[in-house]
Amino acid sequence: MRLGVLISGRGSNLQALIDACAASDYPAQIAVVISNTPGAAGLARAEAAGLATAVIDHRAFATKAEFEDALNDALLDHGVELVCLAGFMRLLSPSLVEKWRDRMINIHPSLLPAFRGLDSHAKALAAGVRVHGCTVHFVRPEMDHGPILLQAVVPVLGGDDPERLAARVLTQEHVIYPQAVRLIAEGRARVAGERVEIDDLPQPPGLL
Ligand code: GRF
Repeated sequence: MRLGVLISGRGSNLQALIDACAASDYPAQIAVVISNTPGAAGLARAEAAGLATAVIDHRAFATKAEFEDALNDALLDHGVELVCLAGFMRLLSPSLVEKWRDRMINIHPSLLPAFRGLDSHAKALAAGVRVHGCTVHFVRPEMDHGPILLQAVVPVLGGDDPERLAARVLTQEHVIYPQAVRLIAEGRARVAGERVEIDDLPQPPGLL
């Protein structure tokens, strides 16, 4: 399955996908990495892996529709079958999201539906939850909504600050994002009634 990975920054989830795709039995490959931010650190990761890259800077377009047309054209030009948002910091409009309905996924650093949006780790600490985590989900127009593919759980420990908690969650993001892509690429995950049915669901990390 040909992946298009959309990034805005660091690209550690991109790196997890690059590393997964390097295994001969992995059922997906990265067709293109697209950043809306010139100079994003993730672009260097993609280039180091010999992947096709594109910078589509939203600030270079007069309208959001033109930006998204360019994005969509680039995905189609590279034969992308599944779009993976990996720290992509632009909210996509309903028309683009609908074009890729059930073919676009995102990773969010919380156990959705809790703590949508930015600063999920600070929100989790403020709420006093004892467990936190991350979610891979199919994308719907509303931010951080959509059928849930996989989640991973981590404990919230005494003395945690947002950075320490984020690092614990990020380790699990790097586990479940490649797992979720594998489930889709192997045809083992399907959306049914806005929930995801999975054949042979893997054990969620962090649970006994
Ligand atoms: C991750 O925490 C991801 O869950 C969120 O943005 C962050 C991106 O990090 N959507 P990276 O660029 O993949 O390192």
